Order: sequence, then structure tokens, then C-alpha cells
Amino acid sequence: MRTVLTDLLSEAVSLLKKSRKTIALTGAGVSTESGIPDFRSKGGLWSRFDPMEYGTLGAFKRDPGKVWQMLTELVSIIDAEPNIGHLSMAEMEKAGFLAGIITQNIDSLHQKAGSKNVVEFHGSLDSFTCLYCDSSYPLAAVSQQDMLPTCTQCQALLKPDIVFFDEQIPPAAFSQTYDLIHGADLLIVAGTSCQVVPAATIPSTVQAQGGKIIEINLEPVFRGGEAIVLQGKFSEIMEQLQAVLLL
Ligand code: OAD
Repeated sequence: MRTVLTDLLSEAVSLLKKSRKTIALTGAGVSTESGIPDFRSKGGLWSRFDPMEYGTLGAFKRDPGKVWQMLTELVSIIDAEPNIGHLSMAEMEKAGFLAGIITQNIDSLHQKAGSKNVVEFHGSLDSFTCLYCDSSYPLAAVSQQDMLPTCTQCQALLKPDIVFFDEQIPPAAFSQTYDLIHGADLLIVAGTSCQVVPAATIPSTVQAQGGKIIEINLEPVFRGGEAIVLQGKFSEIMEQLQAVLLL
């Protein structure tokens, strides 16, 4: 007898096989199994750091030392390795089942896993920019400095190229996202609580053009209408999906 999850997995595989263009939207939950805490689960980053006190550019400019207490924790993720879920997504792309990934994550783990078409919607921790003269620095150069990294050209404060709450999505990321969404008839929504706009509007945008949704999450959160909900760990579900899909 088949379990409910197996039935849902088969349904998801059949949608993936029929789809003309599948894309994915991922969030922090795809990296928890790589040892990186998410934001809103128990013990998540925002349970320890108030996002309005630690997650805005205004706060960073007012009291960089305070915001660096939170950033230090983020920077410590550079040694994390992709998990089997990231690797399975990369394999799906290679096999032509996934056109690209829009990720809210700043950890580069999709790219480390081999995914090629990745849009970093909330920026990346890979580089830092001087708030005064715009000089750019790789993370490696910054993490070797003491706390409160500054520009070697003008000594002003360096900011990681991540999107704080009071900042706009980088225009290039926005246009790449809408190129990816164009013509997509299936969206995999994985490991995100879908609480932060504008990323949270991506599922309804895909649905509005007739696209279907597959959600992968420990606790399904998608409330925007019909979706195939694969409840469980990202790595386990992706591994099963990929195994059946690439038989
Ligand atoms: P959240 O922390 O809000 O949500 C993570 C989701 O992943 C939750 O719904 C968890 O149930 C789920 N999850 C955790 N571990 C999982 C696993 N192993 N398998 C499957 N699901 C799992 O993170 P995001 O939705 O990514 O923005 O947060 C969105 C944005 O809010 C972030 O990009 C960040 C944050 O503020 C900025 O910093 C601008």
C-alpha cells in the first residue's frame, strides 16, 4: 500500500515531467541541514536578534558594532557545505527539469552544489561594499580584518552585499527573477515561510499565469491556494524526487 507522501511525490514527479518550465523559490529552510539556522523557526536568527534592531541599514549606520554581533554569526556560515537537497536541485537543472532558482539565501550553497542559474534575491555574503566610495571587497578579505571592517581606500564602513529590511531588492536580481518567472508553469517553493515581500509574492505571480505550486517544508506554510505539499525535510524529499525523476 502506498503512503500519502508517496502518492504526493508521484503527483509532483508527474507535474515535473509534464512541465515546460519549472523554477524554484528557496529560503533559509533549505540550508538548515547544512548547519545554518533559519530566521523564524525556534532558535532561528530573529528569535535571538530583533530584526528591526539588527536587520536594517539604518541600524547598521547608527550602531555598526551592534549589528556586527548578528553579522558575525552570518559570516560564520562561509564554511558550510551544500546538503543533498542542494545537490539534487543542481542535478535536476543539469537534466533539464529545472530552469533556475530564485533564492532568498545569502549562503551561496546552491552555487556550491553546482546550480548554474541562481538569482540571489536578497544579495550575497560573498562580497562587501564601502558605504562611502563603493569599493568592493571579497568576503575573504573582510573576514581577515578585525571587527568593524573598513575600506582600505577611504576607511569608511564596509557593508555586506546583503539586502537589509529597509533596502530595495537589487534591480538586476529583480529583472532576472521576472525573466525566470516568465513562462514558468511550475514553481517549487522550498524551505521558506513566505513572509517577506516581495519574494513572498512570487508564488501568486506564477499562479496568476496558470502555474502550479509544489511546496517542500517541515511545516507547510503556503496559503495561496492549491499546492502539492510535500511535508518533510528538504534533503530527504529532494533526494526522493530526484531519484524518481532521473530514473
Ligand atoms: P524563515 O526562517 O522565515 O523560514 C524557513 C522555513 O523553512 C520555515 O517555514 C521552516 O519550517 C522551513 N524549514 C526549516 N528547516 C527545514 C528543512 N530541513 N526542510 C524543509 N523545510 C525547513 O526563512 P525565509 O523564509 O528564508 O531576509 O526568510 C525570508 C527572509 O527573511 C530571509 O531571506 C531574510 C529574513 O529576514 C533578509 O535578510 C532580507
